[in-house]
Amino acid sequence: MGANIAATATILIRNAVIMTMNAADDIIFGDVLIEGERIAAIGTDLPEKSADTIIDAGGKVLLPGFVQTHIHLCQTLFRGRADDLELIDWLRQRIWPLEAAHNEDSVYYSAMLGIGELIRSGTTTILDMETVRHTESAFQAIAESGIRAVSGKVMMDHGTEVPLPLQEKTAQSLEESVRLLEKWNGAEGGRIEYAFCPRFVVSCTEELLIGVRDLAEQYGVRIHTHASENTGEIAIVEAERGMRNVVYLDHIGLARPNLILAHSIWLNDEEKRIIKERGVKVTHCPGSNLKLASGVAEIPELIREGVTVGIGADGAPCNNNLDMFQEMRLTAYMQKVKHGPTVMNARTVLRLATMGGAAVLGMEDRIGSVEAGKLADLQLLDLEDFHVYPSFDADWYSRVVYAATRGDVDTVIINGKIAMKGKMMLTIDKPTVLREADRSLKMLLARL
Ligand code: GUN
Ligand code: FE
Repeated sequence: MGANIAATATILIRNAVIMTMNAADDIIFGDVLIEGERIAAIGTDLPEKSADTIIDAGGKVLLPGFVQTHIHLCQTLFRGRADDLELIDWLRQRIWPLEAAHNEDSVYYSAMLGIGELIRSGTTTILDMETVRHTESAFQAIAESGIRAVSGKVMMDHGTEVPLPLQEKTAQSLEESVRLLEKWNGAEGGRIEYAFCPRFVVSCTEELLIGVRDLAEQYGVRIHTHASENTGEIAIVEAERGMRNVVYLDHIGLARPNLILAHSIWLNDEEKRIIKERGVKVTHCPGSNLKLASGVAEIPELIREGVTVGIGADGAPCNNNLDMFQEMRLTAYMQKVKHGPTVMNARTVLRLATMGGAAVLGMEDRIGSVEAGKLADLQLLDLEDFHVYPSFDADWYSRVVYAATRGDVDTVIINGKIAMKGKMMLTIDKPTVLREADRSLKMLLARL
């Protein structure tokens, strides 16, 4: 091999219970071989001699890494600073002033804190919406930490009670988005992608939304926005634009397969039909929807209609964690209260948390399941503990979705690189991030 050709690193994971989440829902006891970024083989008794690193899973559960399709890394520093409010007050009284006080340093540590929490709890891919300014710092944290992310700066050129540092001119918002896109879309060997993130219709002029529509088409990227989360929000849209929220998005040509809507709780039949027929994707955020008292999204109905649905924790100040284990359980439980206990089972929920999220991002051929040829985004759970026993003749979906917790995540691999091993973070310096998160928050609060 030539001196300038780096040998592909290989990892062999042995003796795992592999919940593949493939189309057949196969659960296999065996080994996974990773070569470089990809899963090269799955089988029993794969030869050890070729692997650089061998992880003896010893009965641990191997799952695809979780895909969370709605996160605000820039809000992680605001955990616990906006409790017990409904959406519009939560934004105007707390979140917007806090976001307005961000600088490069505080966005960076907010992102690192969030990414640390995400990787620690088994999430390997996120769709992330940043704040208006300093998005460069969030991309820096994403690049350094190794997490897979689709992210973009939030866009806000309209609305009342918006602090000055968050107010943008239309052209400037579009230009800054394109500048970030050209720098970060496809960065780190494709691990990072850009998405246009108009905040919600309440924060955006029609000119901005139409500009986003055309630029997203031109660059072949996704559009991520909040939609129909709160009755006050849709009342504002109806008063200003004379249409229901999703009807309006369709009216101006945004309702296309590259549009990803967070929440989608308050939809009428026409809006559900638009989402279905236009191939619009939906992200369910149960923890946020319960805490902000936003409502219960009709997720089982949307799935029945063939809509592609993922799950996301939203931001730390409306949850207050970024933990997919909690979101999975809440997804099932809130639907059961409304529609009865059989409406959603553990297997359906785990599919939303993995392949569902991958499909929302258009990455279903690359991530979301443990299959040869896919990118190696994986997590190992150690279920040798009281709260997940007995193991005898266990239903693995039930054990993982209804009983396991974030503390059970033992090892996380992203893009073929070990990010956490034996609960030790390898790509993020935890003591530094915790210390600097406190320091940068203290300075941010002084700027408020
Ligand atoms: N709608 C507009 N902005 C936001 C936000 O930051 N979080 C949530 N949950 N909803 C929003
Ligand atoms: Fe959100």
